[in-house]
Order: sequence, then structure tokens, then C-alpha cells
Amino acid sequence: MSASARVRIETSGNGTAPVNGDGAWRLQAPSRDAEATRRRSAEAVFDVRSLSVSYNGKPALEDVTMRIEPALITALIGPSGCGKSTFLRTLNRMNDRVAGFAHSGSVRYRGRDIYDPAVDAVEVRRRIGMVFQRPNPFPKSIYENIAWAPRNLRLKGAMDERVELALRAAALWDEVKDRLRTSALALSGGQQQRLCIARALAIDPDVLLLDEPASALDPIATAAIEELIVTLKRRYAIVIVTHNMQQAGRIADRTAFFGLDRRDGRPVGTLIEHDETAVIFTRPRDRRTNDYVTGRMG
Ligand SMILES: Nc1ncnc2c1ncn2[C@@H]1O[C@H](COP(=O)(O)OP(=O)(O)O)[C@@H](O)[C@H]1O
Ligand SMILES: [Mg+2]
Repeated sequence: MSASARVRIETSGNGTAPVNGDGAWRLQAPSRDAEATRRRSAEAVFDVRSLSVSYNGKPALEDVTMRIEPALITALIGPSGCGKSTFLRTLNRMNDRVAGFAHSGSVRYRGRDIYDPAVDAVEVRRRIGMVFQRPNPFPKSIYENIAWAPRNLRLKGAMDERVELALRAAALWDEVKDRLRTSALALSGGQQQRLCIARALAIDPDVLLLDEPASALDPIATAAIEELIVTLKRRYAIVIVTHNMQQAGRIADRTAFFGLDRRDGRPVGTLIEHDETAVIFTRPRDRRTNDYVTGRMG
């Protein structure tokens, strides 16, 4: 792992200010304006400006500007194909692995541009964890699913304790504490998804990105996941894509509505409106948001 060789992104004790691990990005003293910008955007977890994304030259997302605040749940909603997953993946550089991906604009995480060439993508993904639509545990024991990443990253502390804490934080400990050495694949879908959340928490992230984490689950497992996500917001900034508007209404403090615009006859995703969830659902500013949340579109 090359994380230590490059610029590290860390959050200090109060979880708000970015500090640099090895001082590399102090080499170029920022101008006073740049310093002020850095401070302002450090107050947000993410400060995304004029972000556009394309795949193989085809625009997928255009001109998104959005701030995401700490200790809140932000839901991303909108019709299929409007770029919700694309946006989420740009927040921890998960798109880097996608062939043909290109972006413009900036994504600042706690004041630091995560696409700065000096920033290590591995370190970014360590700070900003991600959970996907389909539970994807490794074909290993429950214990090994949690222990794998902290061991690879050589995180300090006793592993048994780390595994227990992660499983407790994901509200799974009581259900699995007597079978930690059995296969994760024998768990139910809902348990597997909570295991994936535990796995993400085990490396002490700061942010959790969730892409439709409950869409493959039954209503009871979904309720457990929703309850869990709400408990997690005290410690982590959470951004969740959901196609379930009731879910956004139940758990999200802020909601961002993405829609499809047309450019040269082609559909391209864009951010239409971002506000308190109650505003989005009851008195949105944009007619397209209203049409969507009242079921007239999408
Ligand atoms: N890996 C990819 N390669 C090429 N095109 C992609 C890829 N992922 C998404 N797209 C395209 O980007 C657009 C937005 O997709 P996506 O972000 O998955 O939307 P959503 O999550 O809102 O359904 C779509 O037109 C989709 O086909
Ligand atoms: Mg998606």
C-alpha cells in the first residue's frame, strides 16, 4: 500500500479540519485567497463545484455544485440514469477504476481537492467508505470480512476488539458473536449488508457513501438498515442514493434531486435542487422536483 508515501488526508480530533500528514502540500504556500477558500470549504465535508462527468466522451453529469455538511444524512434521489451513482462514486474516486471516465470541476473533501495528483486515491477511499446495492461480503468468515482491511492497512489496536466494535456499530454483533468464524455467505441478505457496513466502519472512515443499500432487501431488513443509518449519522457524514422516496423522507436531513436535461439531443444528468428534505418534499422551488416527488414523472 502506497498511502504513506503520498499526501495523506486526515481529520483532526474534532473531525472538521484537514491536516496534512507529511507536510507535502505546504511546499507551495497557498495565496491568502486560496487559504480562505480552503477554510470555507473545510467546514463542509464535501464542497463540489461545477462537476461534470463523462464516460468515453459521453456526458453523464453536468455542472453539479453542492456542499455536503457533516453529521447529516444527505439523500440523492431522481430518475434512473440521471447520474446519482456517478456523483456518489466521484466523492471517493471510485470512478477512477471505470474505463473512459473523465471529469472537470472540483471535489473538495474537508478543504482538500481529492483529485489533486498529490492525493492518494487509496487514502481517499480509506476516509470515505462505500457500500453498494448488492451485499458483497468476501467468501470468508464473518471475522475475516472485518479484519481484512484493517490488517492490510496495518491499523493499530487489537483486532478482536476492532471486529467487535465494527459489528456493534453496525447493529450485528448480537446476531453473529457466536459464529464469527463461520462463512459470511451463510448470513441473510440484510445481515450481509450490515456486515458490509461493519466492514466499511472497521477502517475508521469519516464518511459513508451508500448506493441504494436496501434495494435488494425485504421490508424488515430494510427497516433495520434505515435504523442503523440514522444511528451512524452522529459519527459519520452519510450520503445515500435511494430510489425509495419514503426512505429519503424517513431518514434524510437533506435531499438532492437529480434530473435529466437534454444537451444536443442527448440526456445528461444534472442537480436540480438540494435542500432540507421537508422542503424538497413539500415546497420545492423547481417544478420538475415537484413533478417527481408527487409521482407525475420518473
Ligand atoms: N461505467 C460506466 N460506463 C459508461 N457509462 C456509464 C457507466 N456508469 C454509468 N454510466 C452512464 O452514466 C449515466 C448515469 O448513470 P448512473 O450514474 O448509473 O445513474 P443513476 O445511478 O442515477 O441511475 C447513464 O447514462 C449511464 O449509462
Ligand atoms: Mg445508480
